Amino acid sequence: DSPSLWGGRFNEATDSFVQRFTASVSFDQRMAEQDIRGSVAHARMLAAADILSADELKSIEDGLATVQNEINSSTFPWSVEREDVHMNIEARLTALIGDAGKKLHTGRSRNDQVATDIRLYLRDAIDAIAAELTRLQQGLIELASNHAATVMPGFTHLQGAQPVTFGHHMLAWNEMLERDYSRLMDCRARMNQCPLGAAALAGTTFPINREQTAAELEFTQPTRNSLDSVSDRDFAIEFTAASALILTHLSRMSEELVLWTSAQFQFVDLPDRFCTGSSIMPQKKNPDVPELVRGKTGRVNGHLVALLTLMKGQPLAYNKDNQEDKEPLFDCIDTVLDCLRAFADMVPHVTPRKEVLREAAKAGFATATDLADYLVRKGLPFRDAHEVVGKAVAEGVRQELDLADMSLSTLQSFSALIEADVFEVLTVEGSVAARDHLGGTAPAQVRVAAANAAKALEAR
Ligand code: ARG
Repeated sequence: DSPSLWGGRFNEATDSFVQRFTASVSFDQRMAEQDIRGSVAHARMLAAADILSADELKSIEDGLATVQNEINSSTFPWSVEREDVHMNIEARLTALIGDAGKKLHTGRSRNDQVATDIRLYLRDAIDAIAAELTRLQQGLIELASNHAATVMPGFTHLQGAQPVTFGHHMLAWNEMLERDYSRLMDCRARMNQCPLGAAALAGTTFPINREQTAAELEFTQPTRNSLDSVSDRDFAIEFTAASALILTHLSRMSEELVLWTSAQFQFVDLPDRFCTGSSIMPQKKNPDVPELVRGKTGRVNGHLVALLTLMKGQPLAYNKDNQEDKEPLFDCIDTVLDCLRAFADMVPHVTPRKEVLREAAKAGFATATDLADYLVRKGLPFRDAHEVVGKAVAEGVRQELDLADMSLSTLQSFSALIEADVFEVLTVEGSVAARDHLGGTAPAQVRVAAANAAKALEAR
């Protein structure tokens, strides 16, 4: 094997344990394609600046294409002695094309190289995640418009509060994801600057053209400060934070689905293919997919804390610590993509059980607020109306009778303002239909909100 890339200064070979301990090739080879794209852009810029000849550029481009083919066909000779993806590729290039390969690293360092690779990798990952997010949102919005008038209980404190519609609930989930999408796009925009040219930390003595490499790699502009360029990992933290929120949202949805599919709730059905059975209890159908998504939230939260902690003590500029950014980041990407995929596949097949939901919506005097509002419309101040209805509910509890099932004369014993038209406001359908304003749960509003949400997706 040829000597290491820094052999000149050293009197002995790296300890073999230290070699394994400091190597990152086992995990950073995931960025090989981005590394090659970055190298091609850098070589073209060097040629345009007359630092490389046209022939040298040609042989570097051809050589890197061969390297990419070898990687694609799993014939690339990855080696831990070459430490990381960058040196593996450079060494292989030189083995393939000779001296021109040795010139590629002119005016560049692995420090600006790795910062560029991660940004390129993460940019693609964000686009893939955004696509899955959009697919999930499409499913939720579709479910919402199909169930704009499906009444279900709304909860506060997990106690029945007021009736809502299933569509409204689905659109509440969609709002969380809408914010997640916008957070990802914010992160993408801030990250989309090119560190190439910062070199090790101070820039380079060669007449480089940073605008050219930035444009070639479809960054919006070069980064402004060479020290910051090689040491900044804010974008990785921001991405992981955005991911932790995505998982937090999926976890909350999971919790509701787990609750709703239980025999005690029976609010919705999940298709068998998203569930598993029990090895001992023949009756079981367990909601493994939402449970596992809820569980995986922990690892993404952990990655966020890992990256924040990784950065907090680092002096400028590059430190080897930064090599530790990749495994949390990659696992974060994989986890978020898998969880979104699971949800996007599953959500269109969630089937609400309308009759169960309607009965559950009635339980617990869910239209009590509607009766109070009714009395207010008849002229009673709200606090007095609250008191009147409280007494009616207490009576209902004693008699085990819902407000809607009380006789008119019983209701009138609590307030003379109550008339026969009261029964319209005491139904769950009347209750949701009455909340007919922007952001309210009325079926008419849910239909409009679903249509607007669908339009927002189309505009992406
Ligand atoms: N493998 C390194 C990383 O992941 C690449 C940059 C190393 N630079 C250095 N001077 N050791 O961060």
